[in-house]
Amino acid sequence: MHSSEVAQQLKADATLEISNLDVFFGQGMERLQAVKDVSFSVAKGGSFGLVGESGSGKSTVLRTISGLVGDWKGTININGKSMDYRRDRAFYKTIQMVFQDPYASLHPRHTIDRTLSEPLILHGVGDRDDRVDQALLDVGLGTAFRFRYPHQLSGGQRQRVAIARALMLEPEIMLLDEPTSALDVSVQAEILNLLADLRQNKNLTYLLVTHNLAVVAHMCEDIAVMNRGEIVEVMSVETMRKAEPQHPYTRELLLASEGYVPE
Ligand SMILES: Nc1ncnc2c1ncn2[C@@H]1O[C@H](COP(=O)(O)OP(=O)(O)OP(=O)(O)O)[C@@H](O)[C@H]1O
Ligand SMILES: [Mg+2]
Repeated sequence: MHSSEVAQQLKADATLEISNLDVFFGQGMERLQAVKDVSFSVAKGGSFGLVGESGSGKSTVLRTISGLVGDWKGTININGKSMDYRRDRAFYKTIQMVFQDPYASLHPRHTIDRTLSEPLILHGVGDRDDRVDQALLDVGLGTAFRFRYPHQLSGGQRQRVAIARALMLEPEIMLLDEPTSALDVSVQAEILNLLADLRQNKNLTYLLVTHNLAVVAHMCEDIAVMNRGEIVEVMSVETMRKAEPQHPYTRELLLASEGYVPE
């Protein structure tokens, strides 16, 4: 194959492709650039981790892909289609986001049934009873949870509901922003294992944000390290495991990261 054909092939395999992304907040003198020239791609069925210290721009990248942030430039390609500033209906069937805090992300006065049915109603999807039951089973909750309220659930159970809600429209890509960091350590592994199983069973593609290197080592094949809005290093988890990162900031991060033990 000619090298340009190889490049084309690589592009065709990329489900999510971000090129030269810049993101800004505020206006005039207050305008601040939170993300600078960020580029990476995630292959179909892959899991890509975004790590870096607090304030480095990880959530901003995810929120911009989701369409929650308006002031950006660069290219966001999903399945080869370039995203506009506005996201259409089809977009939300392709890509969904799970947030850090399952307490804040579920409506306190809506039953689980209502929370899970809502995306189906919005998109005119039928078979709602069956789909809600199946979604609860998919995330390891029984159908008995259907008519409960969030306050009757543990943190881990709430995050399972948030994951189920994200899966209702059968998306291809999941944007996961610190999906376990608000949970007890004992529950974190359960949720990570659930996410790993779901990726395999439903052939999902993940973009996972975390500050925990042990989490990316467990969940991802490749990672990008962010510092002050920029990607300073992209490497495989294999390289990280061998503790061979090139960039001094990444080495610092490895040393500073509690709970990460290179093999
Ligand atoms: N809505 C906003 N308005 C103004 N500035 C913002 C807004 N959201 C984020 N920022 C700024 O953008 C920068 C990146 O923030 P971001 O939330 O993306 O960091 P992060 O890497 O996700 O951090 P953390 O690990 O703490 O979640 C920070 O300087 C932050 O203060
Ligand atoms: Mg964040």
